[in-house]
Amino acid sequence: MHIMDILQNSTRAKAKNITLEVLEDILADTLTLVFKDDGCGMSEEMVRNVVNPFFTTRTTRKVGLGLPLLKQNAEMTGGSVEIRSKEGEGTLVTAVFGLTHIDRPPMGDLPGTLVLTIAAHPEIHFVFHFGRSNSDNDTDYVLDTDELYEALDGVSLQEPEVMAYIKEMVAENIR
Ligand SMILES: Nc1ncnc2c1ncn2[C@@H]1O[C@H](COP(=O)(O)OP(=O)(O)O)[C@@H](O)[C@H]1O
Ligand SMILES: [Mg+2]
Repeated sequence: MHIMDILQNSTRAKAKNITLEVLEDILADTLTLVFKDDGCGMSEEMVRNVVNPFFTTRTTRKVGLGLPLLKQNAEMTGGSVEIRSKEGEGTLVTAVFGLTHIDRPPMGDLPGTLVLTIAAHPEIHFVFHFGRSNSDNDTDYVLDTDELYEALDGVSLQEPEVMAYIKEMVAENIR
Protein backbone atom coordinates (compact mmCIF):
# COMPACT_ATOMS: atom_id res chain seq x y z
CA MET A 1 0.00 0.00 0.00
CA HIS A 2 2.93 2.34 0.69
CA ILE A 3 4.27 1.63 -2.77
CA MET A 4 0.93 2.37 -4.37
CA ASP A 5 0.61 5.60 -2.38
CA ILE A 6 4.07 6.94 -3.11
CA LEU A 7 3.74 6.05 -6.82
CA GLN A 8 0.44 7.92 -6.80
CA ASN A 9 2.18 11.01 -5.43
CA SER A 10 4.43 10.89 -8.49
CA THR A 11 1.57 10.43 -10.96
CA ARG A 12 -0.33 13.29 -9.32
CA ALA A 13 2.82 15.41 -9.64
CA LYS A 14 2.47 14.97 -13.42
CA ALA A 15 5.64 12.95 -13.79
CA LYS A 16 6.44 11.63 -17.27
CA ASN A 17 9.06 9.20 -16.01
CA ILE A 18 8.82 7.25 -12.77
CA THR A 19 11.26 4.67 -11.50
CA LEU A 20 10.89 2.40 -8.52
CA GLU A 21 13.63 0.25 -7.11
CA VAL A 22 12.82 -2.50 -4.62
CA LEU A 23 16.07 -3.79 -3.19
CA GLU A 24 16.35 -6.63 -0.72
CA ASP A 25 19.77 -6.89 0.85
CA ILE A 26 19.91 -10.15 2.78
CA LEU A 27 23.29 -9.49 4.39
CA ALA A 28 22.53 -5.93 5.46
CA ASP A 29 19.02 -7.09 6.39
CA THR A 30 17.41 -4.12 4.65
CA LEU A 31 14.54 -3.62 2.27
CA THR A 32 15.02 -0.37 0.37
CA LEU A 33 12.43 1.38 -1.78
CA VAL A 34 13.64 4.16 -4.06
CA PHE A 35 11.03 6.26 -5.87
CA LYS A 36 12.21 8.73 -8.46
CA ASP A 37 10.09 11.01 -10.60
CA ASP A 38 10.39 14.03 -12.88
CA GLY A 39 7.17 15.60 -11.68
CA CYS A 40 6.51 19.08 -10.32
CA GLY A 41 8.71 18.62 -7.24
CA MET A 42 8.37 20.37 -3.88
CA SER A 43 9.77 23.51 -2.30
CA GLU A 44 12.41 23.19 0.43
CA GLU A 45 9.85 24.15 3.03
CA MET A 46 7.43 21.55 1.78
CA VAL A 47 10.09 18.83 1.84
CA ARG A 48 10.94 19.76 5.44
CA ASN A 49 7.35 19.58 6.55
CA VAL A 50 5.78 16.91 4.42
CA VAL A 51 6.70 14.08 6.81
CA ASN A 52 5.04 15.86 9.73
CA PRO A 53 1.39 14.77 9.90
CA PHE A 54 0.47 17.77 12.08
CA PHE A 55 1.92 20.40 9.80
CA THR A 56 -1.19 20.35 7.67
CA THR A 57 -3.56 21.45 10.44
CA ARG A 58 -1.74 24.76 10.83
CA THR A 59 -1.65 25.75 7.16
CA THR A 60 -4.01 26.09 4.29
CA ARG A 61 -2.11 23.42 2.41
CA LYS A 62 -3.81 20.07 2.28
CA VAL A 63 -1.47 17.25 3.23
CA GLY A 64 -2.26 13.60 3.56
CA LEU A 65 -0.67 10.81 5.55
CA GLY A 66 1.24 8.95 2.84
CA LEU A 67 4.77 10.16 3.58
CA PRO A 68 4.38 10.51 7.38
CA LEU A 69 3.07 6.93 7.58
CA LEU A 70 5.86 5.63 5.37
CA LYS A 71 8.39 7.35 7.62
CA GLN A 72 6.77 6.05 10.78
CA ASN A 73 6.63 2.47 9.52
CA ALA A 74 10.21 2.58 8.22
CA GLU A 75 11.52 3.96 11.51
CA MET A 76 9.61 1.33 13.48
CA THR A 77 11.79 -1.27 11.76
CA GLY A 78 15.05 0.55 12.46
CA GLY A 79 15.01 2.23 9.05
CA SER A 80 14.51 5.74 7.70
CA VAL A 81 13.00 7.88 4.96
CA GLU A 82 14.84 10.52 2.99
CA ILE A 83 13.13 12.94 0.63
CA ARG A 84 14.97 15.05 -1.90
CA SER A 85 13.06 17.28 -4.23
CA LYS A 86 13.44 20.30 -6.44
CA GLU A 87 10.59 22.38 -7.76
CA GLY A 88 10.16 21.86 -11.49
CA GLU A 89 12.64 18.98 -11.56
CA GLY A 90 11.36 16.07 -9.55
CA THR A 91 11.47 14.07 -6.38
CA LEU A 92 13.48 11.24 -4.90
CA VAL A 93 12.04 9.30 -1.97
CA THR A 94 14.21 6.64 -0.35
CA ALA A 95 12.72 4.40 2.34
CA VAL A 96 14.79 1.83 4.19
CA PHE A 97 13.11 -0.91 6.25
CA GLY A 98 14.62 -3.60 8.44
CA LEU A 99 14.02 -6.61 6.15
CA THR A 100 13.36 -9.23 8.81
CA HIS A 101 12.19 -6.81 11.52
CA ILE A 102 8.98 -8.09 13.08
CA ASP A 103 7.24 -4.74 12.53
CA ARG A 104 8.00 -4.53 8.82
CA PRO A 105 4.75 -4.41 6.86
CA PRO A 106 4.50 -7.43 4.54
CA MET A 107 5.22 -6.82 0.87
CA GLY A 108 1.73 -7.78 -0.23
CA ASP A 109 0.89 -8.10 -3.92
CA LEU A 110 3.77 -6.21 -5.53
CA PRO A 111 3.17 -7.53 -9.09
CA GLY A 112 -0.53 -6.58 -8.86
CA THR A 113 0.31 -3.11 -7.55
CA LEU A 114 2.80 -2.48 -10.35
CA VAL A 115 0.56 -3.73 -13.15
CA LEU A 116 -2.44 -1.73 -11.89
CA THR A 117 -0.33 1.42 -11.65
CA ILE A 118 1.03 0.94 -15.18
CA ALA A 119 -2.41 0.21 -16.65
CA ALA A 120 -3.91 3.29 -15.00
CA HIS A 121 -1.26 5.57 -16.56
CA PRO A 122 -0.46 4.46 -20.11
CA GLU A 123 1.08 7.89 -20.80
CA ILE A 124 3.79 7.50 -18.14
CA HIS A 125 7.10 5.74 -18.67
CA PHE A 126 7.70 3.44 -15.69
CA VAL A 127 10.85 1.53 -14.86
CA PHE A 128 10.64 -0.99 -12.03
CA HIS A 129 13.81 -2.57 -10.78
CA PHE A 130 13.67 -5.46 -8.37
CA GLY A 131 16.91 -6.60 -6.83
CA ARG A 132 17.81 -9.14 -4.20
CA SER A 133 21.38 -9.48 -3.10
CA ASN A 134 22.50 -12.50 -1.19
CA SER A 135 25.93 -13.77 -0.24
CA ASP A 136 26.19 -16.10 -3.24
CA ASN A 137 23.40 -15.26 -5.65
CA ASP A 138 21.87 -12.04 -6.84
CA THR A 139 18.51 -11.52 -8.50
CA ASP A 140 17.84 -8.59 -10.79
CA TYR A 141 14.72 -7.91 -12.74
CA VAL A 142 13.76 -4.78 -14.64
CA LEU A 143 10.33 -4.02 -16.05
CA ASP A 144 10.49 -1.07 -18.45
CA THR A 145 7.16 0.01 -19.93
CA ASP A 146 8.86 1.20 -23.15
CA GLU A 147 9.97 -2.39 -23.77
CA LEU A 148 6.64 -3.76 -22.54
CA TYR A 149 4.56 -1.66 -24.97
CA GLU A 150 6.93 -2.55 -27.81
CA ALA A 151 6.51 -6.26 -27.03
CA LEU A 152 2.72 -5.87 -26.76
CA ASP A 153 2.80 -4.35 -30.25
CA GLY A 154 -0.48 -2.46 -30.01
CA VAL A 155 -2.30 -4.92 -27.76
CA SER A 156 -3.86 -2.95 -24.90
CA LEU A 157 -2.52 -3.51 -21.40
CA GLN A 158 -6.03 -2.68 -20.13
CA GLU A 159 -7.28 -6.06 -21.39
CA PRO A 160 -7.85 -8.20 -18.26
CA GLU A 161 -6.08 -11.22 -19.82
CA VAL A 162 -3.08 -9.11 -20.75
CA MET A 163 -2.90 -7.59 -17.27
CA ALA A 164 -3.10 -11.05 -15.70
CA TYR A 165 -0.37 -12.29 -18.00
CA ILE A 166 1.98 -9.40 -17.25
CA LYS A 167 1.30 -9.75 -13.54
CA GLU A 168 2.21 -13.44 -13.68
CA MET A 169 5.36 -12.62 -15.67
CA VAL A 170 6.45 -10.08 -13.03
CA ALA A 171 5.66 -12.48 -10.19
CA GLU A 172 7.64 -15.24 -11.90
CA ASN A 173 10.66 -13.01 -12.42
CA ILE A 174 10.63 -11.74 -8.82
CA ARG A 175 10.43 -15.33 -7.53
N1 LIG B 1 6.59 12.94 -5.72
C1 LIG B 1 6.03 14.10 -5.38
N2 LIG B 1 6.10 15.17 -6.18
C2 LIG B 1 5.53 16.36 -5.85
N3 LIG B 1 4.84 16.57 -4.70
C3 LIG B 1 4.73 15.53 -3.85
C4 LIG B 1 5.32 14.26 -4.12
N4 LIG B 1 5.05 13.44 -3.08
C5 LIG B 1 4.34 14.17 -2.19
N5 LIG B 1 4.14 15.42 -2.64
C6 LIG B 1 3.39 16.49 -1.97
O1 LIG B 1 3.28 16.15 -0.61
C7 LIG B 1 1.91 16.03 -0.22
C8 LIG B 1 1.77 14.96 0.82
O2 LIG B 1 1.95 13.67 0.28
P1 LIG B 1 1.43 12.43 1.10
O3 LIG B 1 2.05 12.45 2.44
O4 LIG B 1 1.62 11.20 0.28
O5 LIG B 1 -0.12 12.72 1.30
P2 LIG B 1 -1.25 12.89 0.16
O6 LIG B 1 -0.72 12.24 -1.09
O7 LIG B 1 -2.42 12.14 0.71
O8 LIG B 1 -1.50 14.36 0.02
C9 LIG B 1 1.18 15.75 -1.53
O9 LIG B 1 -0.16 16.15 -1.46
C10 LIG B 1 1.98 16.59 -2.50
O10 LIG B 1 1.58 17.95 -2.42
MG1 LIG C 1 0.19 10.36 -1.09
